[in-house]
Amino acid sequence: MTSIATQPLALERPGGLGIWESQPDEHDYVVDDVEGSVPDGLHGTLYRNGPGSFESGGQPLGHFFDGDALLSMFVFDGQRVRFRSRYVRTNHYRSGRERRGAAGRLIGTNRRGGWAGNVLRLPANVANTHVVLHHGDLYALYELGKPHRLDPDSLETLGEHDFDGRLRRMGAFSAHFKVDPVTGELWNFGMEMLPRPSIRCYRLDRRGRLHRVREIHIPDMVSNHDFALTERHMVFALDPVTIDRAGALRFLLLGKRLADVVRWRPDRGTTIVLAPRDGGKPRVVQTDAFFHFHVDNAYEDGSDTVLDVVRFSHGWDHLLPHFDAFRSTDGDGVRSFLTRLRITPSGRVEVDDLYGATSEFPRHDWRRTTRAHRYTYLATALQGHWLSSLNAITKLDHRTGAVRQHLLPSHHTVGEPVFVPRRHDAAEDDGWLLAVAYDPAEHRSRLLVLDARAPDRDPLFVARLRHHIPLGFHGSFTERVANPIG
Ligand SMILES: [Fe+2]
Repeated sequence: MTSIATQPLALERPGGLGIWESQPDEHDYVVDDVEGSVPDGLHGTLYRNGPGSFESGGQPLGHFFDGDALLSMFVFDGQRVRFRSRYVRTNHYRSGRERRGAAGRLIGTNRRGGWAGNVLRLPANVANTHVVLHHGDLYALYELGKPHRLDPDSLETLGEHDFDGRLRRMGAFSAHFKVDPVTGELWNFGMEMLPRPSIRCYRLDRRGRLHRVREIHIPDMVSNHDFALTERHMVFALDPVTIDRAGALRFLLLGKRLADVVRWRPDRGTTIVLAPRDGGKPRVVQTDAFFHFHVDNAYEDGSDTVLDVVRFSHGWDHLLPHFDAFRSTDGDGVRSFLTRLRITPSGRVEVDDLYGATSEFPRHDWRRTTRAHRYTYLATALQGHWLSSLNAITKLDHRTGAVRQHLLPSHHTVGEPVFVPRRHDAAEDDGWLLAVAYDPAEHRSRLLVLDARAPDRDPLFVARLRHHIPLGFHGSFTERVANPIG
């Protein structure tokens, strides 16, 4: 164990809020506190990403989106599980180790020094949202900057990556890539403010070469976190979470926090953009305003397009106070539901809530990306509200409507469930769900391996870590077995 960051702030720890405590240490060990055995056939590496520290230079951060990335790696070698974690050595992380006060401007955090300390400074890249292995390269992703490339065995940071200069200007490369299971291509986008608000669409081919698909100009900058991929389209749902010209100037010239210049404009509705994968002209459809972060999947159903999202009951303006109070709030009043949008050729958008309990972090079998999926897996809050109360893994069967659920002990918190198929040709739910849960009584985290066909049963395997890791956001599984020993 290596202690590499400042000591965590002393915080009250009621319920699950220990998930927002910093983890200052990096770890590397074989997990020996286990229940059950690793299922036969579960070989590979689970990478996870999320904020590991909620202060920078000793200054508490104003938003859980702002923490420096702590990558976690669970290696399944067929017999045991090895755990390793490393902070991504971003410029922000390095600076935060050397200076007093937040090293950079972030989404919900300004630097010390008021106006003079913040004017004309752009948001820093903290690399903390998602992680993917593609063509042998491991990338830590963050929507306000370029990917960071890492060694997939040691998690050593190799540096910001611009794909031989193909990511130009600010070079945003979103955290929510989608991989086409047929072509093996990784599709992604970047939201760009300059020289005019736009979505830049990218395709990363199997050899790791980046191609620009097209640029879609939009009237005002909007905050957009995710997208979906069908066999023919990139699908964007652009909620009216706007940063207009006046807001951008308030951020750049007046030193306002980025989170505070975002305006929720429900009068503008949500704009759905269907951008052909061949670079053709996008089709644009308007619908009533809603707010979402995450997409599950999308597909073409005859001439309709089906898009599944986790839709919030309120807009950005309602969420912002909870973001600011993330260390103590349980998100009272925040609701989010898996919702199906059906976009017809005439431009009508039918909205159908698929599951009524507050949920987040939707995942499906990656082999169904672009095509109709039968199952969605979610983290669900059955006893409270939103993130700190996510205490169940839900499997939703879209064909029968059946719900099977793995309920955690009281006050435990669980994050995104990642599906791993048993074999390449296994049925859609024949495999495992991997999720990291948090035990507040022990202030430790554990990896759960559930049978995806029957997630309501006891876990097949539990690997208890010696420490906690904060909740985290997203992760990827690869069949490649990492070799952290070298
Ligand atoms: Fe996300």
